[in-house]
Amino acid sequence: MNYDDVMKLALERGFYFPSCEIYADAQAGFWEYGPSGVGLKNKFLELWRRELVRRDNMLEIDGSQIMSQSVFEASGHLTSFADPIIQCKNCKSTFRADKLIVESTKIEIPESADLTDFDKAISENNLKCPNCKGGFEATRKFNMMFKVGIGPDGEPAYLRPETCQSIFVDFPRLYKTMRGKLPFGISQVGKSFRNEISPRQSLLRLREFYQAEIEVFCNPNKLNDLEKFSEVQDTVIRFQLDKLKEMTCKEAVNSGTIPNKFVAYYLGILAEFYEKTGIDMSRSRFRKLGEKEKAFYAEVAFDFEVETTTGWLELVACNYRSDYDLGSHAKKSKEKFEVMDDDVKVLPHVFEISMGIDRSLYSILEHCLQNDKENDRIVLSLKPYLAPVQVGILSLVKKDGLKEKTDEIYQLIKRKYDSFLDHSGAIGRRYRRLDEVGTPFAITVDHQTLQDDTVTLRDRDSMEQNRIKISEIDSVLYKKTAFP
Ligand code: GLY
Repeated sequence: MNYDDVMKLALERGFYFPSCEIYADAQAGFWEYGPSGVGLKNKFLELWRRELVRRDNMLEIDGSQIMSQSVFEASGHLTSFADPIIQCKNCKSTFRADKLIVESTKIEIPESADLTDFDKAISENNLKCPNCKGGFEATRKFNMMFKVGIGPDGEPAYLRPETCQSIFVDFPRLYKTMRGKLPFGISQVGKSFRNEISPRQSLLRLREFYQAEIEVFCNPNKLNDLEKFSEVQDTVIRFQLDKLKEMTCKEAVNSGTIPNKFVAYYLGILAEFYEKTGIDMSRSRFRKLGEKEKAFYAEVAFDFEVETTTGWLELVACNYRSDYDLGSHAKKSKEKFEVMDDDVKVLPHVFEISMGIDRSLYSILEHCLQNDKENDRIVLSLKPYLAPVQVGILSLVKKDGLKEKTDEIYQLIKRKYDSFLDHSGAIGRRYRRLDEVGTPFAITVDHQTLQDDTVTLRDRDSMEQNRIKISEIDSVLYKKTAFP
């Protein structure tokens, strides 16, 4: 199934849809999650907390989305967080230079390349405005942060372009009050904002988007001194080198593919996490970024990418940010960011796992959506612990007291499981609708229920039905929907 199939599902089954869609001035790059999307997102985040945050004893914070100008002067975003753009001399349409060039010529120029590289490619390939065929002004940089004015005087501030800035700014307080010890992990889930020139493809390039970021503060002299590395040393990860290569984390460190055990540990637990989301890991890879591709704050960077019908998508940026952030905030704020580690004063370095939630959810949907032609149905084979609706509660027919019995069962379980009560329509069609939103189980009340207090439990993937007692429903669902 492809991007269009996922889009159709998203729009028709309450996963996501455009923001402000009833108005003509609705802006591109803003999307809303509907009930099914929120259900999937909440469960995805619960899995993220279990598999990364709690596994590694990290802390979680929830910072402000608007942050003061000083933060972004220190972080470098005011000067460096910019896209190369070109404007048509004639109709004044604006485009991202790198995107226009790759789409017209297949020549890939990293967004952080010199501006003259874009001008050269445009003139050598005689590229013109796609709207009016006009020529272009010289390429220039466009800062992607959204500026806001605070109070009546409009004091300048910015919507954060990455959630992690609050983690850096809050580090001294958190380290002190939470009795920190290196390595010290702080995480955050929240919205970030980027004024993209060409937002596109729904959740894949948004102006307002969700990140789940983890910043691990570490002693740069101890990057190979990590006992818990043994937990992942045999975990297999896939690397894009000259060709795709599978290797264990241990092999990746020994061969120098990953610079140290510290980075390898986090790439390992990240791969273990994604394995549990239902993404097809045989279509995933870690890719080391070249000098011109890396973000301005990164010393070493690996992207975790997943192949979809739209191409390879970056889901997670794994950046070794060194002491760039703490050093810059220390200098600007005059706050102390150094800490003691084994009686030695150290300015911690940072390794981050910056996850794009929206793209991850898209990838899960695309990898799990199947056209089961044999049974004439579309099935969303979500892992039961990620399904927005875990169980459908259906009456075979409404009459003969079956509706009332079904309502009773729904009342019994609806506080514990995300349940959907459905009395109307042909039973086959009701099952098909549940299959399409990824509901892994359906309980059906029939005439036998009134005689022996049993119901049928239908399994979405096998379509098999078994009879179980009403008194067993809770324990059966508990086991079947549990997180791994
Ligand atoms: N914090 C890294 C990023 O937003 O890509």
